[in-house]
Amino acid sequence: MSGLLQDRAAVVTGGAQGLGEAICERLAREGCDLILADIQAPAAEAAAGRIAAATGRRVTAMAVDVTNEDHVRALFDRAVESFGRVDVAVANAAILIAEPIAEADAKKWRAVMDVNLFGNFLTFKHACRVMKPRKSGAIIQINSKSGKKGSAANSAYAASKFGGIGLVQSVALEMAPFGVRCNAICPGNLLDSPLWTDPDRGLFVQYLRAGKVPGAASIDDVRAAYVAQVPMRRGCAYEDVCNAVVFLASPQASYMTGQAINVTGGQEMR
Ligand SMILES: NC(=O)c1ccc[n+]([C@@H]2O[C@H](COP(=O)([O-])OP(=O)(O)OC[C@H]3O[C@@H](n4cnc5c(N)ncnc54)[C@H](O)[C@@H]3O)[C@@H](O)[C@H]2O)c1
Repeated sequence: MSGLLQDRAAVVTGGAQGLGEAICERLAREGCDLILADIQAPAAEAAAGRIAAATGRRVTAMAVDVTNEDHVRALFDRAVESFGRVDVAVANAAILIAEPIAEADAKKWRAVMDVNLFGNFLTFKHACRVMKPRKSGAIIQINSKSGKKGSAANSAYAASKFGGIGLVQSVALEMAPFGVRCNAICPGNLLDSPLWTDPDRGLFVQYLRAGKVPGAASIDDVRAAYVAQVPMRRGCAYEDVCNAVVFLASPQASYMTGQAINVTGGQEMR
């Protein structure tokens, strides 16, 4: 059975776990061969092996730190060597270090900008380097609703994501004459992702300990408070975001560039 992206070649950063892993699996199910890049080498190998076995596509892991230009250059060179081209590049790798502004550690603040914004710049730069001569390609940035609305005690993350939309629009304008589209997806809260559920460092325990949700006595209370913020009354699921990735990567989005699409169940209207 052929998928919507049959025999396309893709690169995904931050693919070893969470949303990035789900995007890799969905792209492979839609017919893509891909390189799954992540700073966590063993986890990337494991995810790539699992997805290749499940889909029958060529899925290769590569150890890449998106803040290192030599790594990112090598990632796109390897994709071209392996597949002959890159049709789809997904900039998904990001980190979140939430600290109140008056106590924020400057090194940690800069590290968030480095991975989320500078890392996206390097990914976009090398995606454009290989896509521009072919006059074709789709670049997709995984942004956040925090890219459009400030986030208390989370200034580095929100600043990096707001900056990301400026980067997307600028690259979209520059690359439009060369047939390369560049768009962002702004998901709501992926409440079942490790970012939220990790028992030690996840946002549920962090927010519970920090008293961020008034009256919350348990993780379930914190979760319920976040679900209540969503008009559609559920957290964002990986599949919600993957559907938008496939659309933006496909010819169905051929007249769309420079957009930042909300996938939030309506939450950003609140
Ligand atoms: N989880 C959410 O609720 C949520 C909501 C909105 C947007 N997002 C966005 O979705 C994307 C994925 O988030 P997630 O929740 O799956 O996060 P996650 O922390 O589970 O996964 C991020 C991945 O990026 C990798 N990574 C981190 N730094 C890297 C680096 N320097 N180089 C290469 N890889 C690196 C990590 O190893 C990890 O595999 C991010 O862009 C995030 O901002 C997440």
